[in-house]
Amino acid sequence: MDIAERPINFTRGVPAEETFPLDLLAECAASAIRGSHAQQVMQYGPSLGFSPLREWLANKHDVPTDHVMLANGSLQFLDFIGLGVLQRGDRVLVESPTYDRTLTLLRRHGLQIGGIPLQDDGPDLAALEAVLGQEVPKLMYVIPDFQNPSGATMSLAKRERLVALARRYDVRLLEDAPYRPLRYRGTQLPALFDLAPERTLYMSSFTKQISPGVRVGYLLGEPAMLKKLAKVAEDTYITPNLVGAAAVYEFCQRGYLDNQLKSLRTLYSERMDVLCTTLRELLPSAKWIEPDGGFFLSITLAEGTTNEALRKNAAALQLNLSDGRGFFPVPSDGERFLRLPFCALTPDEIREGVRRLAQAVQQTSNQPVGAV
Ligand SMILES: Cc1ncc(COP(=O)(O)O)c(C=O)c1O
Repeated sequence: MDIAERPINFTRGVPAEETFPLDLLAECAASAIRGSHAQQVMQYGPSLGFSPLREWLANKHDVPTDHVMLANGSLQFLDFIGLGVLQRGDRVLVESPTYDRTLTLLRRHGLQIGGIPLQDDGPDLAALEAVLGQEVPKLMYVIPDFQNPSGATMSLAKRERLVALARRYDVRLLEDAPYRPLRYRGTQLPALFDLAPERTLYMSSFTKQISPGVRVGYLLGEPAMLKKLAKVAEDTYITPNLVGAAAVYEFCQRGYLDNQLKSLRTLYSERMDVLCTTLRELLPSAKWIEPDGGFFLSITLAEGTTNEALRKNAAALQLNLSDGRGFFPVPSDGERFLRLPFCALTPDEIREGVRRLAQAVQQTSNQPVGAV
């Protein structure tokens, strides 16, 4: 089918299917099941997860092994924190916008969510300080590197100041860093966990590095905290997915991860560049934060454009968009916000998608308010 007739999805932030390292993973999965760890992998195991992978991660992040916990993907840690550490009604701060599933989980646990406006270089720390002066939250959730959904990266100055504020007001930080290994330009900044390991829980996973289907996420933190979470994990699933963790361990231990990340960076950085160039050319009125890595770029549309009207006009052009309001603690703040995930689209699909988007934006801005 010609590209002009194909539907284009600027919706889910998934990895490109052609990046899944199928042959290498098949080799690693076979070793996981047949190799020297076979009995350990097939039996119930520790709720903290498959020990060899915990040791490999501990070594990589330069922490003792008892500071590492594994789960079935990283999102599950939010659930465990909600069940084992927080209580209904507790206050949690997030960046506004933030990852939509995090908002869903925080709401599911009955937490009070406060949004700190996001700026080009991270959360507005003056706004944060004002909030902290009134009420200290139980937790602050942040995505410092190539944030989902905005693509923003927190500057070094803000990382240092955020950590200083967290120490001053005694706030625990939850750093979500699944995109951190996917930097396409500039130099890596220290993680909040590097700056304040005593008060930061750092979560990440192999979802964006190898494949979501392996379902292997990990959390770094103080052993006393991990012990609490491991108890919740044990009561949830007894032991996490050991076959997936052992296959990932083989993949890492054989040295395949570095090459995998290199090829992801090459493929995705080209896609990001195509998106930025085409947006500049076809939608010059849109505003966005230029990402340095990750999966997402998000645009803010001109005043008067509503999400619903735009999505309706886009759908008629076979362009599927997600509702920007889902990323905001106060949904109406996302009325003009549009997330554009670029990794799973080819350069031609990105160009065609932006062409349709520009057309839908044009149609929407010509429509009288309330016409859709
Ligand atoms: C910021 C963020 N956190 C967590 C996740 C969940 O990842 P996992 O597959 O490790 O559960 C995602 C997935 O898109 C994400 O964007």
